[in-house]
Amino acid sequence: MEFNQITSEILAAIENAVGKSNVFVDEESLQNYAHDETEDLRFYPEVVVKPSDTTSVSALMKVCNDFSVPVTPRGGGTGLSGAALPIFGGVLLSMERFKAIIDIDTENLQATVEPGVITEEFMNAVAAHGLLYPVDPSSKGSCFIGGNVAHGSGGPRVVKYGTIREYILNLEVVLSNGEVMWTGANTLKYASGYNLTQLMIGSEGTLGVVTKIVTKLIPAVSQTVLMLGSFATNEQACAAVSAIFRAGITPSALEFMERKGVEWVIQFDDIKFDLQPGVEAFLMIEFDGDDMDTIFKDCEKVNMVLEEYGCTDVLFADTAQQKEDLWRMRRTMAESVKSNSVYKEEDTVVPRAALPKLIHGIKEIGGKYGFESVCYGHAGDGNLHVNIIKAGMSDEDWKHRLKDGIVEIFELTTALGGTISGEHGIGLVQKQYMPIKYGEIHLNLMRQIKQVFDPKGILNPGKITP
Ligand code: LAC
Ligand code: ZN
Repeated sequence: MEFNQITSEILAAIENAVGKSNVFVDEESLQNYAHDETEDLRFYPEVVVKPSDTTSVSALMKVCNDFSVPVTPRGGGTGLSGAALPIFGGVLLSMERFKAIIDIDTENLQATVEPGVITEEFMNAVAAHGLLYPVDPSSKGSCFIGGNVAHGSGGPRVVKYGTIREYILNLEVVLSNGEVMWTGANTLKYASGYNLTQLMIGSEGTLGVVTKIVTKLIPAVSQTVLMLGSFATNEQACAAVSAIFRAGITPSALEFMERKGVEWVIQFDDIKFDLQPGVEAFLMIEFDGDDMDTIFKDCEKVNMVLEEYGCTDVLFADTAQQKEDLWRMRRTMAESVKSNSVYKEEDTVVPRAALPKLIHGIKEIGGKYGFESVCYGHAGDGNLHVNIIKAGMSDEDWKHRLKDGIVEIFELTTALGGTISGEHGIGLVQKQYMPIKYGEIHLNLMRQIKQVFDPKGILNPGKITP
């Protein structure tokens, strides 16, 4: 890849394309956009551009394509794989001014929204119409829906409602050369050739810049019940997960938390929680619906399964406050771990019945390489976030030897039928591990797709494929 640095001539062309007031080169801006939430990585862009309409993005891409300048699109900056890091400098394209909820179509249960809308704000806006947009990653209060599209995001309710892939009907996209297109149709079905909408989802800004999003919506539900099961071992908790589904029940969330994660959240966030001795792991299980009788019947069935798998205690969150506290405990776990130690976060995913083997293996690999780990995540999806803690590891081992341990973790997920990321994406930090799961045939197809969409390789270069 041959990129050009941004000269005064190129800067003038960019300013001309998007308007001077949308272009920033001051030190503070460059610093603010040099990082996302991935470890402590920093890469400085040469210029930050904040357009607010499709025409400007199109004009910007045309300039950058003509001058071979790299463009890194960015949403809310909450990513955990370094996908929004401008590793070759160039233009950091922030979508933060794409703030409009253009239409909530209550006839068709669809919405059209711009990518810079904060996910939770979008959820609240549709909720005001009695509708549900259920894709709510832990970062929902600050992530953008555009970033969620770029990552194929998930979150706790995937287990019942599916990932964002199930909710995106159509996308307006600016291609690398500035051309503008819609990827599909605003329909619930699509059998009209290659599905470019699905190809764009999860492409992490490497194939095009999403400028409008059409989502599907569903009717809101009125009731939720939340329970928390305690277990003496990680394996018991993990084994109960697939048994719940085999008993014919689909909770609206089924989350796993290791004791250490809970301990750290309590310290970090001042949450009141009575952590009993002897408890090593928790399953947080939520049911939703409109009929409490049905929900309670499901709770009873789950209770029986939990007991069978050695659950020592079940707590029902009685009040709205208790529910909120438990969810806060779960949702702030990533931040708590981060505030506590130098760490690396891996996003393992396996078929859910393989979870006990996965967690057992992770701990074994940790023992071999001398790292501790804190695991939590969307157990109902077979998706465990593995936070590797530096703890007593030497700087030398952390820098060089740890990688072999991570390779072993991904070899394990692969052997168990899983893959190397369930929802955090590949971005910069996971791309080195792609060959563990995917052979050259697979990776070459990905590279060729990239080549078709972006012949000069200017869109978010250095991501996804090694
Ligand atoms: C979570 C984020 C880290 O599940 O994916 O909290
Ligand atoms: Zn998650």
